[in-house]
Amino acid sequence: MTHRRLKMGRGKVVTGASFWNREAEMRLFIERLDEGAHQLLVAQRRMGKTSLMAEVANRLKDRYVCLFADLQKCCSEPDAVVELSLQVHSHASLWEKVKRVFGNVMDKVESVYRQNMLGVRGHLELVHYEERLEQVLDRETCAFSLDMLTEAAVTGRLSGEALIAFRKEYTVEGRDANDVQKDILWVLEHDGYLKKGRDGYVFVSKLLRDWWKNRHEHFYAPVRERGERR
Ligand SMILES: Nc1ncnc2c1ncn2[C@@H]1O[C@H](COP(=O)(O)OP(=O)(O)O)[C@@H](O)[C@H]1O
Ligand SMILES: [Mg+2]
Repeated sequence: MTHRRLKMGRGKVVTGASFWNREAEMRLFIERLDEGAHQLLVAQRRMGKTSLMAEVANRLKDRYVCLFADLQKCCSEPDAVVELSLQVHSHASLWEKVKRVFGNVMDKVESVYRQNMLGVRGHLELVHYEERLEQVLDRETCAFSLDMLTEAAVTGRLSGEALIAFRKEYTVEGRDANDVQKDILWVLEHDGYLKKGRDGYVFVSKLLRDWWKNRHEHFYAPVRERGERR
């Protein structure tokens, strides 16, 4: 007899084809947004607030820069500033605007970020990412996946060429390297480490990327340079 275990669908935000109805609410939400209003969406948990915002963001992505900053876990003002700045950082024009708004508080962001988020506190929150891979992948495949993640963290992306180079480097007995790599990428995508970017896979979270880089970059040689050095 086979047993199937029900998995909790924790925190799964729905958009696109999985998003159902809410047309009237979205119309109103977008209308207010276009008027420049600040909006507060209040409802009990699991009523669909985050999904509604994500769906609106999707539909408006050509008109607005839609960013998602979750301040729930922030314990202090610097935490909140760090979280906001993480989201805004990659949008140069917005970043300039935010720096003006926060004034000299923003000068401290970089050091707060380095000390808090990449330091001991961030470490406690992030180390489970690494442990999770050790749980779901066997030893050999886990080493393969850690190496690919470090490549993405250190060089900024996991390119098609890098993927080919990794397939040459890792031979898993009795299995096709292509299949092994596909399985790993599936885990890395579905567990929220990497997403497909324009030129390969990139980290979903800048925080996780910086933490990963800090932790693993020493002595790391990008995969495509390894052959040349041997
Ligand atoms: N418009 C929708 N269509 C289909 N399912 C939805 C919709 N909105 C929410 N859900 C379901 O409800 C769950 C909770 O939604 P979520 O947006 O996380 O709620 P909240 O942010 O209010 O806690 C989602 O995982 C999804 O399964
Ligand atoms: Mg929510």
